[in-house]
Amino acid sequence: MKVMVIGGAGYIGSHVVKALLDDGAKVVVYDDLSSGHKINLFPKAEFVEGNILDYDKLKQAMEQEIDAVVYLAAKKAVGESMENPELYAENNLIGAVNILNAMSKAKVKVLVFSSSAAVYGMPEYLPVDENHPLNPINFYGFTKLEMERLMKWYDMLRGIKYTSLRYFNAAGYDKSGAIKGRDSKPQNLLPIIKEVVDGKRECLMVFGNDYDTRDGTCVRDYVHVSDLADAHVKAIKRLLEGKPSAIYNLGTENGVTVKEVIAATERVTGKTLPVRFVGRRAGDPAVLVASSRKAEQELGWKPKYTSIEEIIRTEL
Ligand code: UD1
Repeated sequence: MKVMVIGGAGYIGSHVVKALLDDGAKVVVYDDLSSGHKINLFPKAEFVEGNILDYDKLKQAMEQEIDAVVYLAAKKAVGESMENPELYAENNLIGAVNILNAMSKAKVKVLVFSSSAAVYGMPEYLPVDENHPLNPINFYGFTKLEMERLMKWYDMLRGIKYTSLRYFNAAGYDKSGAIKGRDSKPQNLLPIIKEVVDGKRECLMVFGNDYDTRDGTCVRDYVHVSDLADAHVKAIKRLLEGKPSAIYNLGTENGVTVKEVIAATERVTGKTLPVRFVGRRAGDPAVLVASSRKAEQELGWKPKYTSIEEIIRTEL
């Protein structure tokens, strides 16, 4: 099996590449290295340096024996997507159309897409399953939902089978230490905590401690990136077996508060984490927890990392 991983030098992409190589697949990484890292590239994988907005290059790269595409390359900062929608429309929407059109031209019939819990917006019930209403409250989530809608049409009209994986809060790093590239300007909780632990940042700002949760801070479902990677391998194989297109939530079904993340970090490091409580961040739901029952039943996927402490250990 030969898989093209678009965005394979990025955080989740490099873990997907590793999981595919470990499973014996041939891998082609397509990445423009704008946010991905050269050190995340595996020598065993072929590398094509290219941007998803470069349609001709993308199409050319796909015109070899590719069995499946994994599409991760995207802009992913929620706040930035609200300030600069043009950038997100260009990268996440035009890029998505380019990928589908290149697949259509090159006759690649299997696509696994990196979607997000952000497609749901404010949860109306918990845990959030795949039938939950889709009301993204940020432009980033909107771009993910639009790609899901596009894929449905390319399935009907061009026979491209897809699986959309709606990640909850991706966290952690490969435990063997094989993946070293880190975001230079992290936006998410765990990479920010790592910078505080490493002394690169003075303290962690906790966004709100007056939520209606067990300790006043937001609850999230942190899922280990190696578990996410494993779901991609399973999703590709399922589609190559001829199963229909599908959408799956990927989370641990385990809600953890920001304060619990801080306490777990302190247990792992044996040190007090400098913390400052500040106001709420706009657009943050109080609680976001997945139901991943469908992925378990249909993909046979079950996360191996179930405790936040284990996940943090691999992050730091
Ligand atoms: C968001 C998106 C998610 C997306 C992810 C990737 C939503 C609902 N979720 O997750 O779909 O895939 O970003 O970027 O849009 N926090 C602090 N201090 C910090 C940073 C975070 O207190 O410095 C808190 C946040 O308020 C939140 C939790 O930590 O409660 C996790 O935040 P973050 O890691 O940014 O992820 P989400 O916003 O949950």
